[in-house]
Amino acid sequence: MKQDTRKILVTSALPYANGPIHIGHLVEYIQTDIWVRFHKLRGHECLYVCADDAHGTPIMLRAEKENITPEELISRTLEAHKRDFNDFHVDFDNFYTTHSDENRELCTYIYEKLKAQGHINQKTIEQFYDPVKEMFLPDRFIRGECPYCHTLDQYGDQCESCNRTYTPTDLINPVSAISGSTPIRKESVHFFFNLPDFESMLKLWTRENLQKEIANKLDEWFSAGLQPWDISRDKPYFGFEIPDEPGKYFYVWLDAPIGYFASLKNLCERKGLDFDAFIKLDSEYEMYHFIGKDIMYFHALFWPAMLEGSGLRKPNNVFVHGFLTVNGQKMSKSRGTFINARTYLDFLGPEYLRYYFAAKLDQYVDDIDLNFEDFIFRINSDLVGKVINIASRCAGFINKRFDGKLASDLADPGLYEKIGGEVISEKIAKLYESREYSKAMREIMLLADEVNQYIDIHKPWVIAKQDGKDKELQEICTMGLNCYRLLVTYLKPVLPALASDSEAFLNIEPLQWNDISKPLLSHQINKFKPLMTRVEKEKVEAMIQASKESLQSTTSEEISNQVSGHLNDTPLADEISIDDFSKIDLRVAKIIAAEHVEGADKLLQLTLDIGGETRNVFAGIKADYNPEELTGKLTVMVANLAPRKMRFGISEGMVLAAGGNGNIYILSPDDGAEPGMRIK
Ligand code: MSP
Ligand code: ZN
Repeated sequence: MKQDTRKILVTSALPYANGPIHIGHLVEYIQTDIWVRFHKLRGHECLYVCADDAHGTPIMLRAEKENITPEELISRTLEAHKRDFNDFHVDFDNFYTTHSDENRELCTYIYEKLKAQGHINQKTIEQFYDPVKEMFLPDRFIRGECPYCHTLDQYGDQCESCNRTYTPTDLINPVSAISGSTPIRKESVHFFFNLPDFESMLKLWTRENLQKEIANKLDEWFSAGLQPWDISRDKPYFGFEIPDEPGKYFYVWLDAPIGYFASLKNLCERKGLDFDAFIKLDSEYEMYHFIGKDIMYFHALFWPAMLEGSGLRKPNNVFVHGFLTVNGQKMSKSRGTFINARTYLDFLGPEYLRYYFAAKLDQYVDDIDLNFEDFIFRINSDLVGKVINIASRCAGFINKRFDGKLASDLADPGLYEKIGGEVISEKIAKLYESREYSKAMREIMLLADEVNQYIDIHKPWVIAKQDGKDKELQEICTMGLNCYRLLVTYLKPVLPALASDSEAFLNIEPLQWNDISKPLLSHQINKFKPLMTRVEKEKVEAMIQASKESLQSTTSEEISNQVSGHLNDTPLADEISIDDFSKIDLRVAKIIAAEHVEGADKLLQLTLDIGGETRNVFAGIKADYNPEELTGKLTVMVANLAPRKMRFGISEGMVLAAGGNGNIYILSPDDGAEPGMRIK
């Protein structure tokens, strides 16, 4: 079907620059990337921009804790994020940072416009202030007793026990999670963006543009009443200072969505494109934001209101997805299901996850579950068992018996039409367009089933043994490979690497959606190499194990935990009896050897003498200790811990250490202790 070339701008939410990309994030970046690749494959002009969200208190505090500048922290993270996305084949046209000149200029521009139009007001408000740290405290950095259910040690905005929300000043006995001091109330002038000015525009815009499901949610917010939005923060803050307001900074959520435009502007400048054409009111570019359900308020209310107020175009739509759960539960560090992108890649190929997410995603906001049994089954049965199988069943004969040459005729044009004709290809295209990827994958697998049936019926492996059937054999295999080519075209947005390997094997130009109608005939192909292997259960298990061992922190909540007092962030465990304690056999151990472990970025391998016997222990202390400084040292080990199989060998116990996250301290006994002594 010939269609006009559309001009489309697409974004994914900007990941925070204070932690690694994890598989939860990847739901969004993979979902968006598939959509963008699909449109490019269809011949549309489509740009995909994103950036790191680099500002805010958690980033400032984290840098402080690591003794580096925020600039150093965010540039380090930026490189890591780029690498992760790249290795998952998430192909941004630009991945930038919100801490950029472009963003500062655009923020100033938008703020000045809003101010000139009378949408910015000042108000003095009272907030909690940490007198020791000398800063105002964001809600998440205040802890205290819940005013409702009286659970201790709750955040300043919401109780994790009874789930009720409140303001920090309602907390009983509040403490600063940063210094541990008692916060005082302090007044300060804040700047507010007057959201209620935009109520009627927003009501109309949401109804006309957003999905029903989302618009209904927004209706709840409209009925609750829109409030002015506090867009300023006092120093110290890592962000942009508000023009002519020394000591006042733009709240990170003001500059973050503007960061979409800043990334685009940077791209336009590099590519010689007209940036204004994208952002002006009557822009001919469509604009779509992919986001998670947790940040709808910002994208469906604040952002369009800011754009309207500054005379700029609004998005055509905001596509909202649900959250990732793993094996039916929230991602969890202790269960090993909080899996960083990099940890995943250490064990498994990126396209497995891309396909699995595609097989699960639809246009709705429901959460999606990654179930590892299902994951292994789907990949092995769909991709390897159905799709790749077609190529491997046919390619060998063409390579060996016909010097890699395809037949000059299609054996079954009817089947070719059924798999590649306009009816089916447009059906699949519509499913991609409407983000119904799971339905698209199902259609494609049904087609793969049909092709496999065709091969089952014609049995090339039988014909190959019969005399005078060469032409038939060549035509059947040519048919199979032509259908394989169609299936790979359909899968190309999801599996770009498989597509490019298949293009190389088929010896063809990059596949485009619109040129599949003509079959490949009398064409020379290359030698077939296995295009994808089965997922092994052991790899998945090792990945989960490695995630359990990874102590790296990820979320801002955890960062706020790290900066709080140690007892505060790890409350005392349940009481135990002396009998419970005596089950643990602790021994003085001498480190007689310490070595790096090849391929492990956190572990050191220790050989411990416990008084006549030695033990092999893998300890996650590489970030903090050099092997040389450990050799000869006495420490304490749990000597009766069940041996544990790890990726690098068996670990026969555990060395005691305090701390974590790059601040690990191994315990050592006082002078005079000897290897093997029991600790009681
Ligand atoms: N920095 C903000 C976005 C600013 S956009 C102008 C932010 N960052 S985030 O790193 O927390 O999340 C980035 C995106 O990933 C969000 O859309 C969020 O919903 C999504 N996800 C983060 N964790 C997720 C899951 N566990 N599952 C699915 N999506 C998740 O929010
Ligand atoms: Zn409570």
